Amino acid sequence: MASTIDISSTEEWARLRGHQERLEGTTLRELFAADPGRGTAYTVTAGDLYLDYSKHRVDADALRDLVALAERAGLAERIAAMFSGEHINVSEDRAVLHTALRLPRGARLTVDGQDVVADVHAVLDRMGDFTDRVRSGEWTGHTGKRIRTVVNIGIGGSDLGPVMAYEALKDYSDRGIQCRFVSNIDPTDVWEKTHDLDPAETLFIVASKTFTTLETLTNAVKARDWLLDGLGEKGGADSPAVAKHFVAVSTNAEKVREFGIDDANMFGFWDWVGGRYSYDSAIGLSLMIAIGREHFAQMLAGFHAMDTHFREAPLAANAPVIAGLLNVWYGNFFGAQSHAVLPYSQYLHRFPAYLQQLTMESNGKSVRWDGQPVTVATGEIFWGEPGTNGQHAFHQLLHQGTQLVPVDFIGFAEPNHDLGDMHDLFMSNLFAQSAALAFGRTAEEIAAEGTAADVVPHKVMPGNRPSTTILARKLTPSVLGQLVALYEHTTFVQSVIWQIDAFDQWGVELGKVMAKQLAPVLVQAEAPTAEQSQDPSTDALVAWYRRERGR
Ligand code: F6P
Repeated sequence: MASTIDISSTEEWARLRGHQERLEGTTLRELFAADPGRGTAYTVTAGDLYLDYSKHRVDADALRDLVALAERAGLAERIAAMFSGEHINVSEDRAVLHTALRLPRGARLTVDGQDVVADVHAVLDRMGDFTDRVRSGEWTGHTGKRIRTVVNIGIGGSDLGPVMAYEALKDYSDRGIQCRFVSNIDPTDVWEKTHDLDPAETLFIVASKTFTTLETLTNAVKARDWLLDGLGEKGGADSPAVAKHFVAVSTNAEKVREFGIDDANMFGFWDWVGGRYSYDSAIGLSLMIAIGREHFAQMLAGFHAMDTHFREAPLAANAPVIAGLLNVWYGNFFGAQSHAVLPYSQYLHRFPAYLQQLTMESNGKSVRWDGQPVTVATGEIFWGEPGTNGQHAFHQLLHQGTQLVPVDFIGFAEPNHDLGDMHDLFMSNLFAQSAALAFGRTAEEIAAEGTAADVVPHKVMPGNRPSTTILARKLTPSVLGQLVALYEHTTFVQSVIWQIDAFDQWGVELGKVMAKQLAPVLVQAEAPTAEQSQDPSTDALVAWYRRERGR
């Protein structure tokens, strides 16, 4: 295990406190007036991404000491440790190697005695062959019809990544095959996603790293019942129809077999891929079927380009490092508690939801990797919606509310569909929002427009609200890979500063255990026994529910 330091006791931390006090009373207007060149100087290009961080409440001194903090936290060593396969997931004693999922064929990486690159490409090849067969119509359902709908059944990392990327890359997909995603254990989810489908043309992908997840297995059984009923198959789970309509993606071959899915229809991955870092593994099979193996390969190349940048660029010119340090800056020194991600791309409408798991399941921790309590705030709340929808909803709070919410704007020069000058209008909104947040409008400026004196205070735009603007020429598979890898590594950078394990998620376990205990109590005919009692509040809620359900 890496040694641990109390980051808040370091002299770098103290220096940053000083910078915060110095900059607290300085506005972005003043910073730009003092250094008009910062609009181009405070930028970094990483692969195809152009990241403008000029509208942040930092100057050269603060930035220098943020980088010094990263050095003090041992960031360079931790990056090297992750890429080389050290067991940096300490509480689960695992390597963290999502970066190996996108190493090019022929690269070399042996971890724990295993040739990781060969393993990765063997699975990618199998996925590619299967994808080709489904897309060409060679793979048919039980009755000989070709597959028209792919339903991915998974939750968390086995859902959010595939659905986000499917939506993001819809323009690259085969419109003759539709993908749907069932995740919630709410029965309406699987019902809504299947009731209007023809089972003969439907392929289910059961995606679960562990293959023990209650939601996924419950939905998979319901889907199997729906399929067999719809096909009029009498053979139950052993029916040969299952093999034509169900494939699995998992690290747990034994459980997949128990479910009745043949090894030939299983696509594996490894325990060194965290769920929320997994959609570029076989978990992305639905996506690969939608966009084809070439586009999937382009996406992996995009991920790899950002990995290479993260591994090789000096800390001060490293996009994920700068982004991570700025998040630390606001969370730990300015007291910001949340972070908005606002993609100006309708195709990225699920990107904020995807990032919520990536960032919050990774960094929502209150002990360090040595098991001691953290001494600083961790894990901000990520949220967002695509622009311009958010402008007509929550931007009011961003502009004039009392909370400081750093923002990431994401935009593209070229739209996937150009309708006259509509895209220019769209992007003008992005640029206007970031400028309005940063520079605002003073009372004098508003009064000078002829506004009545009593209304002036309501119209004042305080400004000084920080944002990063991330731009790329076009949303392509490669650019999506670069964007996701940017956020993966940004999340990791923050975890290293905080000295926490970003790759476990013990906090989600207790609720699962308690739900399993409660499930029979909700269903049983007889009143709950004393042993089944939980706590007075839960008991009262359960009693209400049982009454409503007539039990
Ligand atoms: O409960 C949280 C979690 O373990 C996530 O980390 C994971 O992405 C999700 O559940 C789904 O897990 P699995 O892929 O094993 O079904």
